Amino acid sequence: MADLSVNVCGIDFKNPIIPASGVFGYGREYEELFPLSKLGGIATKGTTLHRRNGNLAPRIAETPSGMLNSVGLQNPGIDHFIDVELPNLLTKDTVILANFAGSTVEECVEAAEKLDQTDVHMLELNISCPNVKQGGAAFGTSCEMAAEVTSQVRKATSKPLVVKLSPNVTSIADIAKAVEAAGADAVSLINTLLGMRIDINTGRPILRNNVGGMSGPAVFPIAVRMVWQVANAVKIPVIGMGGVSSGKDAIELMMAGASAVQVGAAIFTDPYAPIKIIDEMNEFLDSKGISSVKEIIGTVKPW
Ligand SMILES: Cc1cc2nc3c(=O)[nH]c(=O)nc-3n(C[C@H](O)[C@H](O)[C@H](O)COP(=O)(O)O)c2cc1C
Repeated sequence: MADLSVNVCGIDFKNPIIPASGVFGYGREYEELFPLSKLGGIATKGTTLHRRNGNLAPRIAETPSGMLNSVGLQNPGIDHFIDVELPNLLTKDTVILANFAGSTVEECVEAAEKLDQTDVHMLELNISCPNVKQGGAAFGTSCEMAAEVTSQVRKATSKPLVVKLSPNVTSIADIAKAVEAAGADAVSLINTLLGMRIDINTGRPILRNNVGGMSGPAVFPIAVRMVWQVANAVKIPVIGMGGVSSGKDAIELMMAGASAVQVGAAIFTDPYAPIKIIDEMNEFLDSKGISSVKEIIGTVKPW
């Protein structure tokens, strides 16, 4: 059995596999299936300062080898997360990353201040949300806005701060460099890619929100490319995700430069996916005689 442990920003993970934010809730449904302690970590459903009901349905659409979602950050609010969900999660012997977002810099800062007062292990700031004070463009689509929200949140917490990047940009490496300079301890990527489907019988978009975020196996090559570009652009660790559905995918993303890997939509096809991925990584490393998964991080040999 290979050593699957990794260290990201000084935090020890028993293995690199982390269910991604939004596909695992707060773990309650999944702990009936397997012990959460088998996971390297858990990225919790994005929380916001106030409760959000999310977007109107339909908010999920299937796509070839993927899906679109426009859930709209439905969540019970940060106080519920801190008082009810987090205490349960902190008993599970796995690393907890609290994913959070806001519609203004101030909201993100206030959420970070609240999370800083808890025992959560890491914060993951989702910058794919619209900044309502800047015309609704997502924080993560400009270097200036991404740096501003990162630097303000940085001042609000001493916990390891992971900034989760949007792929809906021209140069994700530039955004990564901007948030690194603003004080991020790590970056995670990719969030969903903006997409749209139309019902040709009604002429209506399938999603009530018209557009939504694309994820699942179809986006995997984009994730590999972006993780590789970002890992080459920054010195801080990169947590990779986007379309991972097998142990070999996770190995590939780590070769591209990821220190840990999140698993999203694959969990909807198979709730045991994270456990199978951990086992498959072990089998691959054993078959190659590699004793530690750390040995493969960033080892791609570009032509
Ligand atoms: C239904 C759904 C809800 C999501 N909710 C969040 C969220 O609350 N916060 C966040 O940062 N990302 C959220 N994501 C994005 C995922 O965490 C991940 O970045 C993305 O789906 C790409 O990974 P995948 O292809 O493995 O799903 C969500 C994705 C899905 C499918």
